[in-house]
This record gives sequence, C-alpha cells and structure tokens, in this order.
Amino acid sequence: MKVSVIGCGRVGLVVAACLAKLGNKVVAVDVDKEKLRKINNGASPIYEAGLDEILSQVAIEAATDYAKIKESDIVFICVDTPSEEDGSMSLEHVTQAARQIATILRETKDYQVIAVKSTVVPGTTEEVILPILESSGKRAGLDFGVCMTPEFLREGKGVHDFMNPARIIVGEYDRRSGDMVSNLYQGFDVPIVRVDLKTAEMIKYASNAFLATKISFINEIGNICKQIGIDTYEVARGMGLDERIGSKFLNAGIGFGGPCLPKDLKALIARAGQIGYEPKILEQVLDLNEKQALRMIELLKRHVTLENSSIGVLGLSYRPDTDDARHSRAITLVNILLEEGASVKVYDPQAMPNFKELFPQVGYATADEVLKCDAILILTEWEEFEQLDYRGKIVIDGRRIAKAREARIYEGVCW
Ligand code: UDX
Repeated sequence: MKVSVIGCGRVGLVVAACLAKLGNKVVAVDVDKEKLRKINNGASPIYEAGLDEILSQVAIEAATDYAKIKESDIVFICVDTPSEEDGSMSLEHVTQAARQIATILRETKDYQVIAVKSTVVPGTTEEVILPILESSGKRAGLDFGVCMTPEFLREGKGVHDFMNPARIIVGEYDRRSGDMVSNLYQGFDVPIVRVDLKTAEMIKYASNAFLATKISFINEIGNICKQIGIDTYEVARGMGLDERIGSKFLNAGIGFGGPCLPKDLKALIARAGQIGYEPKILEQVLDLNEKQALRMIELLKRHVTLENSSIGVLGLSYRPDTDDARHSRAITLVNILLEEGASVKVYDPQAMPNFKELFPQVGYATADEVLKCDAILILTEWEEFEQLDYRGKIVIDGRRIAKAREARIYEGVCW
C-alpha cells in the first residue's frame, strides 16, 4: 500500500520505518528539515533500537511538503499532543496537520483514509478532526475515510513493539475505512479489534491509565512492605503468578515518568472533569507517583547530610533503552539535591545530552567517577549498572539493581 505518516517523532518514525520494512511505499512529513535530511540519508534522528538499521535498508521519502501525500491510500497523523498547563491535551499540532491534509483532500480524486495515531481524548477524532477534514468540501465516509488507530509502543522498544503487537485497535468511522486500515496489518497474527472512533481513543487512555495504576499500586504495597521489612519483589512474584493479576508492571520503585503515562493520565483526569466526574483512583495514582520519588531523599538523609555532600546519580532517562529524560525521576530528585546544597554528579549511557539542556550546572561524568561521590542514587535500571563495583559505597536504589547490594550501605526504596 501507499502510506503517509505526518509527524516524524518517536511514534511517527517507528511507524514509517516499520511500514516501509513491511513493503509499503512510505512518505514521511515533518516541519523539521534536519530530521528529514537524516531520514532521507537512511539514518535515524533519534536513539531507538533497530531504527537505524531499518532506515538504512528502506527508501522513505521524507519531506515538508504535504503535496507528497496525494498518492497515499492511508495518511497517518502521528504528531504530538502535549499537555496544557491544566493537564488537558493540546490539539494545536493535530489540528494544524488536519488543516493541511484538508487542503490536499480538496484536490485529490482517489479515496484516502485519514487515520489518527496521535493520542487524543475520546471524542476528538469525530468532533474536532473530522470537521476540519470536511472543510475541504469532501464528505467523510463518502469521499474519504476516517480511522483512529492508537499505538502501544514503548520508547526504545518501539520497533519490537510495532512488529510484535499484542493486538491492533482499529477505530472506524465506517466499514470501508476500517477495512483499509485493517488490511495494512494483514500479516500480523493477532486480534484486530474493530470499534468506533471514540472507543479506540478510550482504549488507549484506559490502557495507559491501567499500567500507571498497576505501578502506583505496587509502589503503595512497597511502601508498606519497606516499613515492616518485607521484600516487595517477592510479594509481586507471588501475586503475578495469578493469571488474573499478571507479573508485568509490578516492579516497585520510584514510579513512572516519560512523555506518555503522566501526560495521558492528566489528560484523562481533565476530560473526566469536563463532564463533571471526579476520577478519584486516577488522581491518587498520579499523586502517589509524584511522592514516590521523594522517598529516595528520605532514605538518603538517613545516611548523609545533603549540604556540602557530593551525591552521584546513575540514570537520567525515564526508562532504560532511551535517551529521553522527559518527566524522568532524575529531574525531580536533582532539583531537590541542588536546593538542599549538595553537589551533584550524574551519569547516563544515553540521556546526558538531553539532561544537560535542563541542568547545565551539574557535573557530567563517567559511572566510575559518579561512584566516588559520598552517596549514590540509582534512578534507571540500565543493564550496565549491573556491572559496576559498588563495594564500600552508600547506595540508595530506586530500581532494584541486584549488584548494588554489595554496597557498604544499601537501601532499596521498596525492599
Ligand atoms: C508507555 C506504554 O507502555 C506504551 O504502551 C504507550 O504507548 C506509551 O507509554 P513508555 O512510557 O515508553 O510506554 O514506557 P514504559 O515501559 O511503559 O514505562 C513507563 C514508566 O513506568 C517508566 O518510567 C518506567 O520506569 C515505569 N515503570 C514501568 C515502573 O516504575 N514499574 C514497572 O513495573 C513498569
């Protein structure tokens, strides 16, 4: 099939690369010329496992010009939907993309499906995006198709997740639109769940809200366990064997960060507020998550006075296998350490350049140099942290690095 992807961020780029790898002819559109230059040269502008390899094998046509999408059977909208101040979702980029697509729809004769992949709150595709597309003078369900097909890609593992989905959700305005998008995924031996547009939008939010809830739940259990001397990981192992519970996303620690879970939870809470519903569980999930990282400071203070101490931080990305530091726990914790008068030295295998933009004033060092500090916080479970020599050190571990237990003083946040 001929496919276009609007927005070459982490999601759009993975979608474009994987669809090209599956044999589709792909056009990618973005406003960032430097990004497009890299893609056209067969290189990835971001760190994402396997992406460089695919981009060097396939030929994607990357351009700023929307005219390139004219020939496409399906146009995916993959632009970002950042948070507004009040937690609600900003539709600025999505509506801009829809307006540009509308100008193309006005001229095209062939039937195209516009498929929203950006995470948008229930109702957005039908009530906001579809009317913009119809401003072209063409009619949805007649002249063009509309779908909402959310992604479930983890950062750093996006290529793997795209190629090995658990399910594919196709929200469709009409049957013909849904058939076209479903056909694209013919080769995957997984259920394709076909629903209406707003149900697809809600499946994405409910999935991320549930994952976030699982994390805050196990952290709450973990906070109780820590006080009474129980290892939460043993508890989670015992719980997870019950198929109804499942063992994934029960890693207690310092909670969730990143560009998705916190933002999506806030947007769902804001959407609930708009209809006069107070989502108490979701609010508590977020609140507990904010406080969870602060436990590291409490534990640290048991062993060192922060003022004039050197504190080392291992791990700046919000999860391993990415250079992304957005909403990472390191941001909260480094801020507190600096406020309390500590000198801070940090190391991360990938995220130091991104973190430096936020914190130019801290020391960027090797892992071995960080280990020379008075005390060390572990904030991301990078595999290489299992190879370090922690003997003789004071270590507060937020992510359960087994090797760190050899430290002279070792404290786990929930164990
Ligand atoms: C998430 C969803 O998993 C994905 O389906 C969606 O499309 C985008 O959001 P991502 O944010 O990339 O993906 O990473 P994920 O692996 O879900 O981790 C999110 C955060 O939760 C990380 O900060 C991670 O450290 C934390 N986490 C995860 C835990 O604290 N405990 C766990 O058991 C699992």
